[in-house]
Amino acid sequence: MARVFVTRPLPGTAVERLRAAGHEVTVHPGPLPPTRAELEAGVAEAQGLLCLLTETVDAALLDRAPRLRAIANYAVGSDNVDRGAAAARGIPVGVTPDVLTDATADLALALLLTAARQLPAAAQSVRDGEWRTFEPQGWLGLELRGACLAVVGYGRIGRAVGERAAAFGMEILPVGRHDDLRAALSRADAVTLHCPLTERTRHLIDAGALAAMRPGAILVNTARGGVVDQVALAAALRAGVIGAAALDVTDPEPLPADDPLLAAPNVFVLPHIGSATHAARERMSGLAADNLLAALAGAPMPHPA
Ligand code: DGY
Repeated sequence: MARVFVTRPLPGTAVERLRAAGHEVTVHPGPLPPTRAELEAGVAEAQGLLCLLTETVDAALLDRAPRLRAIANYAVGSDNVDRGAAAARGIPVGVTPDVLTDATADLALALLLTAARQLPAAAQSVRDGEWRTFEPQGWLGLELRGACLAVVGYGRIGRAVGERAAAFGMEILPVGRHDDLRAALSRADAVTLHCPLTERTRHLIDAGALAAMRPGAILVNTARGGVVDQVALAAALRAGVIGAAALDVTDPEPLPADDPLLAAPNVFVLPHIGSATHAARERMSGLAADNLLAALAGAPMPHPA
């Protein structure tokens, strides 16, 4: 029997399965993440931690968790966990790959279409009673067939986005870590980000990268907010350096209501819902439980970070 701290109520069967295996599970209640003090209290006696991307699991936290033997992150990304600090303490870190690929790729396409056809502003004009008639020159946007999509980060999710966009007739330009990012940006009508957030990719899309994009180009981000320099993005949108940005992720999350990015033109921000389908979130729960159950039983995690 191990003590397990789960940092939020989750969909799916993770908690049930951990309890059925005899573990003593404490779930942090309510819709908000634990405060730092609550997180520290939660891990103080825990052998297992099931956490979300909203929790910063750093060396200081691990120092307060002397019994911790396993960390299961309820996400495919693991940038919220200091994996080096965990490894130094012999604590394995698990993630939830594959099961959210389709959900996230679907959302990237939804964001691309939303920006390409100016859906938020068009819908708002109807709601506000401003729309008067069919407008032959109104609401003109980008047609996807024949347009070029740069997919920055061509892993599981990037490929799934590429497949979908190819079905719309787009030309796909995969951009890996050894490819010339600026050259790709200068060719693309739209750019979609799917790289993990690391020291190398933090602010990968900075003022220089934005300047390399085509005027009118669309930026889609379903990866991590930190991949984009948001101050530079707000300035680029205001100056018309790029056409639009459709973001599922920001840094921080949520953005303060007075963040300049929210006041920039042609920006559309969602509340980090890439994996938010019933199926994906339930499967993530299953994988997180698989990781914890294995590690607490002394076996390797099936889905290590
Ligand atoms: C992840 O898994 O990393 C997503 O951002 C949230 O599901």
